[in-house]
Amino acid sequence: MTAPPKKLFVKTYGCQMNVYDSERMTGALAAEGYEVTEEAASADLILLNTCHIREKAAEKVYSELGRLKPLKAANPDLKIGVAGCVAQAEGAEIIRRQPLVDLVVGPQAYHRLPAMTAALAEGRRAIDTEFPVEDKSDHLPPARGPNARRAPAAFLTVQEGCDKFCAFCVVPYTRGAEVSRPAARILAEAEDLVERGVVEITLLGQNVNAYRAGDWTLARLIRRLAKIDGLQRIRFTTSHPNDMDDDLIDAHGTVEKLMPYLHLPVQSGSDRVLAAMNRKHTAEAYHQILGRLRAVRPDIALSGDFIVGFPGETEEDFAATLALCRRVGYAQAYSFKYSSRPGTPAAGREAVPEDVKSERLQRLQTLLSAQQTAFQQRQIGRVLPVLLEKPGREPGQLVGRSPYLQAVHCAAPPGLIGQIVPVEIVDAGPNSLAGRLH
Ligand code: SAH
Ligand code: SF4
Ligand code: F3S
Repeated sequence: MTAPPKKLFVKTYGCQMNVYDSERMTGALAAEGYEVTEEAASADLILLNTCHIREKAAEKVYSELGRLKPLKAANPDLKIGVAGCVAQAEGAEIIRRQPLVDLVVGPQAYHRLPAMTAALAEGRRAIDTEFPVEDKSDHLPPARGPNARRAPAAFLTVQEGCDKFCAFCVVPYTRGAEVSRPAARILAEAEDLVERGVVEITLLGQNVNAYRAGDWTLARLIRRLAKIDGLQRIRFTTSHPNDMDDDLIDAHGTVEKLMPYLHLPVQSGSDRVLAAMNRKHTAEAYHQILGRLRAVRPDIALSGDFIVGFPGETEEDFAATLALCRRVGYAQAYSFKYSSRPGTPAAGREAVPEDVKSERLQRLQTLLSAQQTAFQQRQIGRVLPVLLEKPGREPGQLVGRSPYLQAVHCAAPPGLIGQIVPVEIVDAGPNSLAGRLH
């Protein structure tokens, strides 16, 4: 008789790569007899896939661990694991701070999870935050999970890690050096996804446009992926301005399947702050890139990331950020208060007072949300091709994505999930559009 399946509950924080990694871990653990549950209370193993990017993100993990205490008291056999960037950054410290944790695994060691759970079964704790020489992607089975199996849109990691060392950022330490996966593996994974019904692939990397494997660049990879029958949409994220080369810009004008949307973080509009952040580009260089993109793809929607209150940021510097935003006109953007991260170069620098940061963030967000609203409003009356992804908020509704990555709700039969259909946009909210099948 085979043992009943063990139950695995995974909670994912942070970026899209963590979403992808959670699916890969679920796949690796499925081979060990773990089945996914949506209820933490019925789990044999709870895995938190964590983010360390800002202080609040890391603290959230510790409060979540605290909340798991009663579950562990009710079920002494329950195992609790911490994966992701907090695991990498804090390692064994997590267990010192929260002794109910049984397993700590860093992002480069996920292929070793099966062996680690075997140790747990023997009543031992398991910690692995190494950067092994072998490539985990060679040793992990394909992604499994609700996303991987059913959704028509999927993530695919092509590159991981970062060599840029922006002065504020933990990613080069938590994800390690830039590593690009071989093109052949990516193409095989893409073909497999398409066979399983995926029609849109988002290529992921912390510095995705720095992708380089032999003669393969991101632009070449996109052109090759575009030849896969059945794959209809390609996106990629996140890019760095300094790796936005001519060929990749050109792809935006020539590859029809490449969607007219680009997330290109700039962080600040002040050259002084950009230099202090070690971004190695100016505000003008950023505008030049966007100008070239708009020349080849006039309707491209732009998105960005901003940090306010970086150490040393003056009112004048901040005004330059507002000016940059006004000149660009973003369709969407993320903005954050600077959060000091231990071990990063900026950690010791003199902080901007909290109230100043809050006030600047509010001004920036007011501007960015006005731009977003304007962009949303401009879609009213247009007919957009929408990839219908899943049931919407209301019965009889489906929700999908426009080429510009906007959520679009419309009345449609469930049979249309996975199809790209023309939708006339009739209304626009700040975060989603409403439409009807055209
Ligand atoms: N590789 C990507 C994403 C990095 S993390 C890039 O280069 O843009 C996503 C965003 O979090 C960053 O773009 C930045 O805006 C923000 N961020 C990173 N570290 C931060 C910090 N210490 N404080 C506040 N925001 C931060
Ligand atoms: Fe962090 Fe900068 Fe690397 Fe992006 S480019 S991951 S912000 S160090
Ligand atoms: Fe967070 Fe790590 Fe992603 S710090 S943003 S989970 S790379």
